[in-house]
Amino acid sequence: MTEKKRSLSGIKPTGTPHLGNYLGMIKPAIKMQATHQTFYFIADYHALTNIREPQSLKEYTYDLTATFASLGMEFENHAFFRQSDIPEVTELTWFLACLTSKGLMERAHAFKDASAKGQDVNMGLFSYPILMASDILIYDSHVVPVGKDQKQHLELTRDIAQKFNNDFGVDFFPEVEPLIFGTATRVMSLRDGTKKMSKSDPSDYSRINMTDNADAIAKKIRKAKTDPQSLPANVEKFEARPEAANLMGLYADFSETSIEDVCNRFGGGEFSAFKKQLADLAVAMLRPPSVPCASVRSGRRGRRDSRRRSDLLWLDGSG
Ligand code: TYM
Repeated sequence: MTEKKRSLSGIKPTGTPHLGNYLGMIKPAIKMQATHQTFYFIADYHALTNIREPQSLKEYTYDLTATFASLGMEFENHAFFRQSDIPEVTELTWFLACLTSKGLMERAHAFKDASAKGQDVNMGLFSYPILMASDILIYDSHVVPVGKDQKQHLELTRDIAQKFNNDFGVDFFPEVEPLIFGTATRVMSLRDGTKKMSKSDPSDYSRINMTDNADAIAKKIRKAKTDPQSLPANVEKFEARPEAANLMGLYADFSETSIEDVCNRFGGGEFSAFKKQLADLAVAMLRPPSVPCASVRSGRRGRRDSRRRSDLLWLDGSG
């Protein structure tokens, strides 16, 4: 029997997970349970670069776990854990840090953006890509399902792995492939089609949270920013119509059709009628009636395996 390839990915507990997280990472990650040996984790150490309140970290960790549970993550058969459960990851981070040049870290977008804004960059944020490389390399991962915004991190991981292999004349760390798939790999804010949908946007109407109920989802789509024209009939118009592009991209991803099909079907029509159909589809996708996220979040307790802290992330807070 051939061994299954390994899929690994992480998500930071820095806010309530949203639609961008779902389409960029959670949906492909959950799908890959059928074909891969999977390792998914909550990146609580990465979250410390900007989160200070222990209670928030805990709450967001629960929200993420409940989201994965409600969408079909099979904890019994697949590793799901907190980054901090595996101390070897931070040990490897130090080894890799000693091989990684400061210049490489200065190329990272997150560092450059924070510096450009004049923020006081902490060393956690500066060396963030090295911790991420350790996450990926320690599990011998083959593919990493992520949204488009993580592409550079994956390239830095490859650079760090190659440096290790070259310095020691070995072929120790494998090549890692980012897996960026679907038609909505960069979901934009519902209030501004040029900005990424993000956990940290002050406006709750900018995103659909994975904990939102059906009414909230429908309302946010109804209120999503649009422009005064009718819907574009082809993708060439998308660059000048970022809000339309975003909403039509969401429709394509939810219905698993191409953007071209969506343009053919809705092009020339009114936003209001399209939004209604998009909202129905979004609710059906995000709120599977069998396992509502909120009830997983409040009721179900995970099982703790005392042999290995990392086997399961439990929901009752005993860990
Ligand atoms: P985080 O928590 O910012 O995001 C988690 C995942 O969600 C995707 N994502 C999006 N995809 C599409 N549209 C959006 N608007 C959107 N916003 C977020 C991200 O691409 C990501 O896949 N550095 C990582 C966490 C991490 C990690 C790792 C990931 C730590 N170690 C190792 C992979 C492998 C992060 O900040 O994710």
